[in-house]
Amino acid sequence: MDQNLLAAVEGGHDKLASLSSGENVLSPSTEDPLWWRHAVIYQVYVRSFADGNGDGTGDIAGLRSRLPYLAALGIDAIWITPWYASPLADGGYDVSDYRAIHPDFGTIEEAELLIAEGLELGIRTIIDVVPNHLSDQHAWFKEALAAGPGSPERERFWFVDSEDIPNHWVSPFDGETWTQTTNEDGTPGQWYLHLFTPEQPDVNWNHPDVRKEYEDVLKFWFDRGVGGVRIDSAALLIKDPELSEVVGEPAAGEHPWQDRDELHEVYASWRAIADSYPGARALVGELWLPDVERFVQYMRPNELHTAFNFDFMSRQWSAQQVRESIDMTLNAHEPVGAPSTWVLSNHDVTRPVTRLGREDSTFSFLTKEFNTPTDLELGTRRSRAAALLTAALPGSLYIYQGDELGLPEVENIPRNKIDDPMHFKSGGTKPGRDGCRVPLPWTREGSSYGFGEDGASSAWLPQPHGWANLSVEAQLEDDNSMLALYTRAIKIRHESADLREGGFTWLTSEPGVVAFRRGESLTCITNFADQPVRLPDGARVLLVSDELVDGELPQDATAWLAAK
Ligand code: GLC
Repeated sequence: MDQNLLAAVEGGHDKLASLSSGENVLSPSTEDPLWWRHAVIYQVYVRSFADGNGDGTGDIAGLRSRLPYLAALGIDAIWITPWYASPLADGGYDVSDYRAIHPDFGTIEEAELLIAEGLELGIRTIIDVVPNHLSDQHAWFKEALAAGPGSPERERFWFVDSEDIPNHWVSPFDGETWTQTTNEDGTPGQWYLHLFTPEQPDVNWNHPDVRKEYEDVLKFWFDRGVGGVRIDSAALLIKDPELSEVVGEPAAGEHPWQDRDELHEVYASWRAIADSYPGARALVGELWLPDVERFVQYMRPNELHTAFNFDFMSRQWSAQQVRESIDMTLNAHEPVGAPSTWVLSNHDVTRPVTRLGREDSTFSFLTKEFNTPTDLELGTRRSRAAALLTAALPGSLYIYQGDELGLPEVENIPRNKIDDPMHFKSGGTKPGRDGCRVPLPWTREGSSYGFGEDGASSAWLPQPHGWANLSVEAQLEDDNSMLALYTRAIKIRHESADLREGGFTWLTSEPGVVAFRRGESLTCITNFADQPVRLPDGARVLLVSDELVDGELPQDATAWLAAK
């Protein structure tokens, strides 16, 4: 298996050269209409995945050349973070044209080829749509600024006349959410709303142009064969027209810019569009909502297919916390009939190997600190255990690029290379999210560990020394590597009907141990306790995240067992 993977990487693009561009039909290998219920989805941060043209930035050419690697890993779909035309003020989450690809990443034709080639290999492409805001360089915003106060062009945004800042909404990036414009004659002009950076003005979802535009964007990409859409900041689109202040902890549905009831009708219309295409095109919401009952309402049958389950990431590494989160998640999803998702990380949070090696093992969106003490060896062990634990749970599974290699967070990026606006919004006090966005190491040698060809421009974010052994090449040769573990787990998951669609039952276990059965015969046991735990008699070990000690499962390890 590992040799195949190696060959897949080396074979690179040649294997794919013969593939033809697909039509707007999904290939036979991707016919399953319920694929999104149990898919393994690999998140590609395109800027940092693989650099095909040697300019130091990842691109579609690089991604296409590595599709065989992803096929060998066994994933069902990739989710690509924004690849559109953009000034990259927020890593591409500031889109200036939703129908064009950023020239650093490639062209629309290459995007179409990628989608088609992926399908030939059984890999669907999920794109990232950003409907809450766009770039200040988008034609609409430039027109709005040029047209001036009171113009119809400004009605597509939240422009407000006000002497002082219109309200005190706090950005998820920290700080204010309003910027004042300057009139042509130099006098102070209207204010506009931007929940994130000033380069990301929020659009006004009460405006029919806005609704129509994003529906057309969905169709544009569905027409090109994408298998689904990840919806960025999905809970934020609708604002209280009064722009009222946030007072205390607003009651459910009464927050002025989060989780407003009117959102449901937006997503019902998106679902109708998705359903009008063949091949089960899936809608996946990025919904950071503390209220799980409200959260699952977005996954009623006529709305989103799934949404990221961030609760799991926000728990401490303990049996009790993990068990509570699994219980709560499964119980909440059940009545709406939606599958849950399991997410260990993404491009916004600290890498699991680092996070789980810290005293506070929970993710901290946008609040990372410099110099937090970390035990990477512990974090790696726990990440291996967490990978098997999450891969055994019912629902779909997300893997953020590089987690299958066990990459740690890069914490020493030189200040002058930091790119994330979050760092700057914090006045330089927080590192921001670049540490989980460092380009992947593919080979042991080479100026950028094979991210680009040897001698190509250095990677856009510097890779640390010492990543040779974390490279794909090194891990393909090591049967105990994180990559080997992920590959085996995904393979077993694919082959096991129990894991794909079997029921879920808790098993009684000792304190500090989480144990459950899937379907008829697959058992998953994670040991959080500081004593090794005996495995049930008569079980056959299918996979284990760490070596057994005298036949017992050590601390911070997970085993998959089958009845003999
Ligand atoms: C989402 C993205 C994040 C981005 C933000 C604003 O949370 O995941 O990367 O900065 O939205 O678009």
